[in-house]
Amino acid sequence: MIDPTDTQQWKELSRHSSELKANNLKELLLGDSSRLEDLSFRFNDERNPWGDFYIDFSKQMITKETLNLLVALAYELELPRKINDLFTGETVNISENRPALHTALRSPGTSEVDVDDIIRSELRKTMNFASEVRDGGWRGATGKEISTVVNIGIGGSHLGPLMTSTALKDYAIWDGSLRFVSNIDPSDIVSKLEDLDPESTLFIINSKSFATKETIKNAETAIKWLQKRLGSGEEVLKKHLAAVTANAEKAVQLGIQENNIFSIWDWVGGRFSIFSSVGLTLMIALGSLHYEMLRDGARSIDNHFRSVDLSENIPVLMGLIGIWNRNFLGYENHAVLPYSEDLKYFPSYLEQLEMESNGKNTLQNGEKVTAHTSPIVLGGIGTKAQHSFFQLLHQGTTIIPIDFMVFSQPTWNSMGRLDKSLPQHEILVANCFAQSKALALGSSHDSNHHNADGNRPSTTILGKRLEPYSLGQLIAFYEHKVFTMGAIWNINSFDQEGVQLGKSIAEDIGNAISTTKDYSSFDPSTRSLLSIYDEWKR
Ligand code: F6P
Repeated sequence: MIDPTDTQQWKELSRHSSELKANNLKELLLGDSSRLEDLSFRFNDERNPWGDFYIDFSKQMITKETLNLLVALAYELELPRKINDLFTGETVNISENRPALHTALRSPGTSEVDVDDIIRSELRKTMNFASEVRDGGWRGATGKEISTVVNIGIGGSHLGPLMTSTALKDYAIWDGSLRFVSNIDPSDIVSKLEDLDPESTLFIINSKSFATKETIKNAETAIKWLQKRLGSGEEVLKKHLAAVTANAEKAVQLGIQENNIFSIWDWVGGRFSIFSSVGLTLMIALGSLHYEMLRDGARSIDNHFRSVDLSENIPVLMGLIGIWNRNFLGYENHAVLPYSEDLKYFPSYLEQLEMESNGKNTLQNGEKVTAHTSPIVLGGIGTKAQHSFFQLLHQGTTIIPIDFMVFSQPTWNSMGRLDKSLPQHEILVANCFAQSKALALGSSHDSNHHNADGNRPSTTILGKRLEPYSLGQLIAFYEHKVFTMGAIWNINSFDQEGVQLGKSIAEDIGNAISTTKDYSSFDPSTRSLLSIYDEWKR
């Protein structure tokens, strides 16, 4: 395992970046007639009319030579072999001694690893359960049909289902509604349960480990809420509670019937788990056709990632440009800005995907990294964010590279509900294109107050329409972008050891607050916070 900064191409890129920094994006963009052709890519999907994307990297601070050098770096660091390892089930998650088989989830029956049968059989089981709930075959303990499904989970067991069900709300074929409880703040579960009818509510406890405090506490609250209203008969938990987990034993201990437990496996990382049983709420809401389209979309990008030359491979190029911005231009942040109300949770989803995967300081061989790893990922949606933090993007002292995302057709169009006389979507698109132009080119005025320096890089991802297939593609573009960056940095993108320390200290502090009241072992700051808290909570 090598430190990427020791490679020949890393040194070449450092040299190249010092030269390129003398240029201005405006000059680059307007000065070279072949630039657009060199730096923009079309993803044409032969299998689905909604699967085409146009990705424009020409407003990034790069040239064709930059891309060539980045691709050479990827070859020097054996990216093709690493991609192959991912798909063929090699132990890519070294610290936990596991493969990462999220790509197998979307190609059951054709993947090259020996997990196809269990994936297929679990998929059948979850799909059957989902259609029973949707069709009213599955009834509550008093015989009522289910009209609300509440997903209790956090992190990857929350953000994927929340983001996807929101993005595809117009593709739901179920009349019922989904709710999501995630936070340990009681305000979350209390407000979600307040107006619910227990007789027609089904809870899905979504936790790979079944050991996550937030989820277990919220699940216990849901159980008490059900039993208080419907009684403690066996049928209550049997009909109103299901689980998705890799730890069936713990789910049974909580009172969940074995038949209502759906599996996920340790070789699927939480933030990569949307195509496993973790997506059960989606299967219920979207129905099998739309859910399969979502999966097919992801699979089309898996095939692309696996087979297309690195120089034309879109997620690889997204990842390499991410490396360029972080390590060679020194940009510490990365903003994601979908111009789509329906993608409002996509930035949060990517925050976990990117930062939990690549926010690491250790190489695969256990030595400390010498290059910076994941940028801080932040985001919002256009045009709302234009009226909040865009000021900083245009004139702030920190330059933040951006991914803009927008679709040529509004979502509602696909459901025939759009009033075609509404001008909003055209204005939305105009704003998206205007922002990347303004950021790149800026404008000159006599006063600094009015000046916009420009030279602020962005990528624009233009799709045809946000629908299940194209959303599946978008998810996979980013999963593979994240993998590419981790592979270049030579870090493990599939563990999350950093979050453990906070969890165990919270356990200690929690015990001290609720039982021992002995704060003497804590540091002075924590001790003082605890005693003021004790005083004020009374
Ligand atoms: O604490 C981080 C984390 O482990 C994430 O990686 C994961 O998505 C989340 O917690 C939830 O974990 P689980 O599904 O095991 O409850």
